[in-house]
Amino acid sequence: MIAHKTIRMTVNGTTYERSVEPRLLLSDFLRHEFGLTGTHVGCEHGICGACTIVVNGDSVRSCLMLAVQADGAAVETVEGLGTLQKLNPVQAAFQDQHALQCGFCTPGMLMTITDLIKKYPLASDAEIREGLSGNLCRCTGYEHIVKAVRALVRQPGSAP
Ligand code: FES
Ligand code: FES
Repeated sequence: MIAHKTIRMTVNGTTYERSVEPRLLLSDFLRHEFGLTGTHVGCEHGICGACTIVVNGDSVRSCLMLAVQADGAAVETVEGLGTLQKLNPVQAAFQDQHALQCGFCTPGMLMTITDLIKKYPLASDAEIREGLSGNLCRCTGYEHIVKAVRALVRQPGSAP
């Protein structure tokens, strides 16, 4: 039998303690333990970005991280952004700019962008495209996603 390890983690503002196998992926932990299936699993080897979440303020691929590595961390998933009744600004920009089609890539995109606009509130188009380059979308052609991010960042010269 594999020894378990007890970890504590804050997920979308609530702190949990769980006993987990050391080999359990963070993506699987979030999906199976808490039902947070908004964290999508595509490639499971760090290529597609569908599983992107925010850990301690940085966007990460949850399929490349073990749950035990997030012991003590603050984790944010797409479920923490907003609700159907009250979309948060990133979600609202996606809706306004028609930035999704099938939606498979969308949670990862939203979490990547949440991190991107916080760190680069004046991001240029080139920086937006580079920031999104780790997230694959097979539907949109990316243009509307870039438009959504453009609507979220301050234009140079505008008030903060
Ligand atoms: S599922 Fe994690 S990067 Fe594709
Ligand atoms: S909207 Fe379908 S993969 Fe991006």
